[in-house]
Amino acid sequence: MLALRHLRIGFWGLLLFLSLGLGLEALHGFKVAFYLDLESEPRRLAWRLAHAHGTLLSLVHVVFGLTLGSRHAPEARTAARASRLLDAATLLLPGGFLLGGLFVHGGDPGLGVLLVPFGAVALFGAVLLTARGLASSAATTGSEHELVLRQIAFGTAEYDASVVMRTRVLRAPLRLQPSPEERDEDRKLLHLGAFEGDRLVACLMLQELDDGAVKMRQVAVDFDRQKQRVGTRLVQYSESVARARGFYDMRLHARDTAVAFYERLGYEAYGEPFVEVTVPHRAMKKRL
Ligand SMILES: CC(C)(COP(=O)(O)OP(=O)(O)OC[C@H]1O[C@@H](n2cnc3c(N)ncnc32)[C@H](O)[C@@H]1OP(=O)(O)O)[C@@H](O)C(=O)NCCC(=O)NCCS
Repeated sequence: MLALRHLRIGFWGLLLFLSLGLGLEALHGFKVAFYLDLESEPRRLAWRLAHAHGTLLSLVHVVFGLTLGSRHAPEARTAARASRLLDAATLLLPGGFLLGGLFVHGGDPGLGVLLVPFGAVALFGAVLLTARGLASSAATTGSEHELVLRQIAFGTAEYDASVVMRTRVLRAPLRLQPSPEERDEDRKLLHLGAFEGDRLVACLMLQELDDGAVKMRQVAVDFDRQKQRVGTRLVQYSESVARARGFYDMRLHARDTAVAFYERLGYEAYGEPFVEVTVPHRAMKKRL
């Protein structure tokens, strides 16, 4: 998971660059000529900058990891791009200063320092993408209510609202009605909903499969709330619920028209296309 990866890089990076700081102190303490000579001034400067930038970038990784884990996380593709840029910056910025300080020429740092501007541009890009991604997630639904994601108990009024929603969004456009047996089946499933105030705006169900995986079923976002990231947030929420219950494989049957939506969320299609509820579908899966 991307958020955890950045938290790991951040904390291990902090350890690494704090150790580098100790190393630099030791060079001072033992009055090592290679570091303290007059002509080593560019080396001292470059390595101090490597230490400072490495420590700062490690903290940026931690903050980025926490942001990705929060409900304000940018959407998956933006997060993946920002993540790659941040990785590049973490190699190029401190790496460039370290190399630049290793081979100094007279009063100038070595050629390695040329990596630094590329690292700076990568960091700029990562921060810009994240800042813009946050803005679009804050604009989530255009509703005065914040979107609340939570479980729906079977048999309650909220459950009835979810049946109405699924029928309206998924079945009625195909001129189908839910069969009476579906209610019995629903009893065994986990129902999740996205609410704006009291209004249910999206729902889905999770079903435990025999092989320990989970199947996501009947994802429906109300018509006036589609394409406003509600589906993304509900699917991501369902993944965190599944993970918290110890499941690591999510599967689903996607309508052909929704395959691209799930691909954006990291799902991949497998097997041959097939027809379900009268429309073409693809089986899709994701390792959580
Ligand atoms: C498909 C559905 C669940 C997606 O939820 P949503 O809230 O509308 O989607 P989001 O706003 O979170 O979309 C995220 C991204 O996927 C894209 N997307 C959404 N629906 C899409 C679709 N049907 N086809 C292609 N891309 C789609 C969005 O444009 C957006 O792209 P971006 O990241 O570049 O901005 C919802 O539109 C829906 O309920 N549709 C009708 C019922 C249905 O098809 N359910 C799925 C059954 S398998």
